[in-house]
Amino acid sequence: MAQQNRFDIEPVSRFAGLNAAVRRPREITFFSFDDDHKFRLDDSSLRYYYPPALPCDLSKGFDTFRQLDDSGDDHLDGLLDAIIAHEKEKGSKTEIDFLTWRGMMTKIMVVPFSKLDDWEMNATLFQGTIFIEENHTKKISSRQEQYSSAGRPGAMSQDLMSFWGYKFETVSLMPAPWSETSREYIESREDEVVSNYAQYCSIVRTGFGKVKMILGGEVDAVMAFKPEDKSKPIDWVELKTTAVVTNDKEQTKYERKLLKFWAQSFLLGVPRIVVGYRSQQGYLEHLEELDVQTIPDKVKMKGKGLWDGQTCISFAASFLEWLKDVITSDGVWQIRKREKVPVLEVFKLEESGHGDILSPSFVEWRTHG
Ligand code: A3P
Ligand code: MG
Ligand code: MG
Repeated sequence: MAQQNRFDIEPVSRFAGLNAAVRRPREITFFSFDDDHKFRLDDSSLRYYYPPALPCDLSKGFDTFRQLDDSGDDHLDGLLDAIIAHEKEKGSKTEIDFLTWRGMMTKIMVVPFSKLDDWEMNATLFQGTIFIEENHTKKISSRQEQYSSAGRPGAMSQDLMSFWGYKFETVSLMPAPWSETSREYIESREDEVVSNYAQYCSIVRTGFGKVKMILGGEVDAVMAFKPEDKSKPIDWVELKTTAVVTNDKEQTKYERKLLKFWAQSFLLGVPRIVVGYRSQQGYLEHLEELDVQTIPDKVKMKGKGLWDGQTCISFAASFLEWLKDVITSDGVWQIRKREKVPVLEVFKLEESGHGDILSPSFVEWRTHG
């Protein structure tokens, strides 16, 4: 029987007073996936924000959507390739406790207030760093379950609703700063083919309590431009669509959703979110700009006790510090959260090696490079 370790989620109140500090995330490097989803060590897929014309039919162009097939497992590949290049340039290896995609940290951070979440991650220790990836098989099967349970008669399809999010990006973004973009381009954005092949990924160094980490994640755009001076904060903007709020129940649902918006943006140091409110039929009606830093206090002021940002930060710091004491040997570990089960379970899946978590080129670089 494999050794099993358990980290209690409840009572969450024990994390509220810990006040674990977070380091301001700083971008150390970046990469792009181009229009063919090919990896590039540059900022070619960086996008710039310019407000869309309203109202806008977000369903327009659904029939020509170029949707990336993400059924294959990319592990941490893009992130590790960018780290190899960064270390070669710097001439030294990066010493940190954890390395993962931002999405994994978002899932961990929101645990205290996300009882229904159900996920699995794989982790391995290599040269003093714990690498964490999503368990791809679990992700695919959860998605299939979600799709088969969502078939309410008259409801919009999941695919169409997901398209609305990408369409919102297409009508709100430009491939170059405003000063270099033609009025014709801006006015014709509604007719652009929507594709989710291209991405700009920012890789940051940050820290939670005592743990230091590197996170990689997609950022949607910059507000004006990216500063040349690397010590300056970047004016990132995250785009999100959400249903127009018409009653108290929907307002509460929206405030719960803000937990994910906040955590996702906060982790990469994204200061602003542009929320596009859309009707049930997918018409973009109005926009709201949110200052990421003030989201937790705004939600708290409503007094419903839906979630607390400091609890999330201190929970993540405590869990990762604990995890460092659990994952101390070679092999592949699984971190598991089950729906409605108030524990994070960690157990060893494979006694040796690193599974497929680390790319051969990364292991080669760190071993002989
Ligand atoms: P919305 O967030 O506006 O719905 P992101 O917000 O992270 O930049 O992602 C961009 C869009 O990708 C989302 O826009 C949504 O359309 C789609 N998307 C992201 N995660 C998804 C998921 N788990 N399932 C379906 N669509 C998703
Ligand atoms: Mg995005
Ligand atoms: Mg977005």
